[in-house]
Amino acid sequence: MNLIVLRFPTPKLTVVCVFLQFSRHEPGVTHVLVTGGAGYIGSHAALRLLQDSYRVTIVDNLSRGNMGAVKVLQGLFPQPGRLQFIFADLGDQKSVNKIFAENAFDAVMHFAAVAYVGESTLEPLRYYHNITSNTLLILEAMASHGVKTLIYSSTCATYGEPEKMPITEATPQFPINPYGKAKKMAEDIILDFSKSKGADMAVMILR
Ligand SMILES: NC(=O)c1ccc[n+]([C@@H]2O[C@H](COP(=O)([O-])OP(=O)(O)OC[C@H]3O[C@@H](n4cnc5c(N)ncnc54)[C@H](O)[C@@H]3O)[C@@H](O)[C@H]2O)c1
Repeated sequence: MNLIVLRFPTPKLTVVCVFLQFSRHEPGVTHVLVTGGAGYIGSHAALRLLQDSYRVTIVDNLSRGNMGAVKVLQGLFPQPGRLQFIFADLGDQKSVNKIFAENAFDAVMHFAAVAYVGESTLEPLRYYHNITSNTLLILEAMASHGVKTLIYSSTCATYGEPEKMPITEATPQFPINPYGKAKKMAEDIILDFSKSKGADMAVMILR
């Protein structure tokens, strides 16, 4: 929240205006939640959004990301209402709901994830939780707060070992490791929900 105090010429007339820039929709401003915005791709996406005049909220638990990247963005865009950083774990449903309740998002770009094929074979449950289950929580929060645009960062690991190269949109998805499978399940959840009656969602999946 940004507090801006406006002082008028009459000393007794000091009007305190509280501008809740992140918590209310503003005509002409698109507020994007970037999950994993302290990470490699998320921080670059946030930079581009900010350069293109979007309002950005980054949520990250800093398990893998780099707070230095967020600080650079904060330095480049210090004006009120441009960028806020929220430290939170997307596996914590209470935190996720609070974030959506307190912020007026127009769209979500969901990058946050653990993302190593080898690690996923050693810790599959961690991957299903962090990727599939957390995506479900975000989708539920989007549904309950009327946020209808989602860009989901999936992976080409959802294709497994395709018979034909190059991979196209028509290539069947047969993932062969927990990372790819967790992302494919998250994709299926998103697509099933987006097609359901009343969801009225715009979804894009990046692989
Ligand atoms: N880098 C690539 O080449 C590549 C390729 C294909 C897909 N992807 C996908 O793109 C996305 C971003 O990848 P990246 O390379 O930037 O990874 P990254 O590790 O640099 O960034 C991921 C960010 O997500 C955060 N995060 C992880 N779990 C979280 C949680 N539970 N709550 C909050 N924050 C959490 C991490 O702290 C980190 O900042 C991932 O979903 C990944 O699967 C990446």
